[in-house]
Amino acid sequence: MTSETVVLAYSGGLDTSVAVPWLRETHGHEVVTLTVDVGGGVDAGAVQRRALAGGARSAIVVDARAAFVADYIWPALQAGSLYQGQYPLATALARPLIARLLVDAAHETGAGLVAHGCTGKGNDQVRFDVAVAALDPSLRVIAPMRVGMGMTRDEELAYARTRGIDVPSGPSSPFSIDANLWGRSIEAGVLEDPWTAPPAEAFEWTIDPAAAPREAREVTIGFEDGVPVSLDGEALDGVTLVERLNREAGAHGIGRIDHVEDRLIGIKSREIYEAPAAVVLHAAHAALEQLTLSRELLAYKRSVGDRLATLAYDGLWFSELGVALRAFVTHTQRFVSGEVRLRFAAGAAAVTGRRSPHSLYDIGLATYDRGDSFDHASAVGFIAIWGLPVRTQAAARGDGSDGARSLLDELGADRATATPEPVGVTR
Ligand code: ARG
Repeated sequence: MTSETVVLAYSGGLDTSVAVPWLRETHGHEVVTLTVDVGGGVDAGAVQRRALAGGARSAIVVDARAAFVADYIWPALQAGSLYQGQYPLATALARPLIARLLVDAAHETGAGLVAHGCTGKGNDQVRFDVAVAALDPSLRVIAPMRVGMGMTRDEELAYARTRGIDVPSGPSSPFSIDANLWGRSIEAGVLEDPWTAPPAEAFEWTIDPAAAPREAREVTIGFEDGVPVSLDGEALDGVTLVERLNREAGAHGIGRIDHVEDRLIGIKSREIYEAPAAVVLHAAHAALEQLTLSRELLAYKRSVGDRLATLAYDGLWFSELGVALRAFVTHTQRFVSGEVRLRFAAGAAAVTGRRSPHSLYDIGLATYDRGDSFDHASAVGFIAIWGLPVRTQAAARGDGSDGARSLLDELGADRATATPEPVGVTR
């Protein structure tokens, strides 16, 4: 039979290392592996050696960290996207990028197939399959771990051993872990009981907040058009800025998230996240928007950010709605420039200051001190009209409270009455 080429998203771990010979032997495919560094740490030499040992025709490794930050992380930050209000979407955001690179590699190598190592129970299979379909509907996607391979860990180890592939065979991690620049996702093992507190060994990027240094650390983050561009006045590229914040905020115990989340396929699952940079940057970005955007825009934009979070989570990053909503968000960011100061202490990042050349904060209007420029008398007319519907309603139907009894009586008010002293009359 003529062998068809398949591009496999390859992590270098046990599952995908077994998938390389399995795809060749079972389906007669020519295998090209693609390993994408999105900040999880990739040993390119080792990964390529292992892929070729498994019989891959070629092994591509690409450092996509800068593209990940610019095209996926920053748009999600600008949108304020947190899935179910908690999860900064690290894993979810990397999937459409990896899918893009898979599609590019398929075009480059003349492959009609792409493959990934996801199982049939999670979100990631949906994200890969749908993103590939959005970019090139003529490509077929296969997932050996979902259907076909069906090996236990011991069977996989034996399979690799008989083919001379050196796979990491140490004690398997008690958790399932996925990590990239925007965060580390940890699930399974003892974490499957949502009542069980995450054990210390689940964490790698953050120290226990209870053991955080006593001295607080102040950081100032500079933004331009909603994008972080500097740390403590030093201009930094996105990758360096995120990496540095992960280290520094993690050292103060910032960024732990314990989430029982709703997977797209209808299962509730307990996941722990470590996302120090994401937590800090979302707090800082929100503070700067609160200074520079109107109340109406803030409220509307929040619903857009929520919708974009769900779209990213659900694998619909490349949908028309996703593209259109991101264009809206970009437009809202042209005044979100300035600086935010935060204090890292005891596991939390607290905003302590913000400033912007586009600030909507007017000290003359806000002050209770000298220099007050607000026209107090004009409040009377404003309130008369603002409260008009409520006044009309009360006049027509009663006072709007639910009981006929006085609240004073209900609360058993203790009344004391004094006889007024006669007041002397002065002339
Ligand atoms: N629940 C997260 C998501 O769907 C992370 C999934 C990967 N997590 C893992 N521990 N392997 O985006």
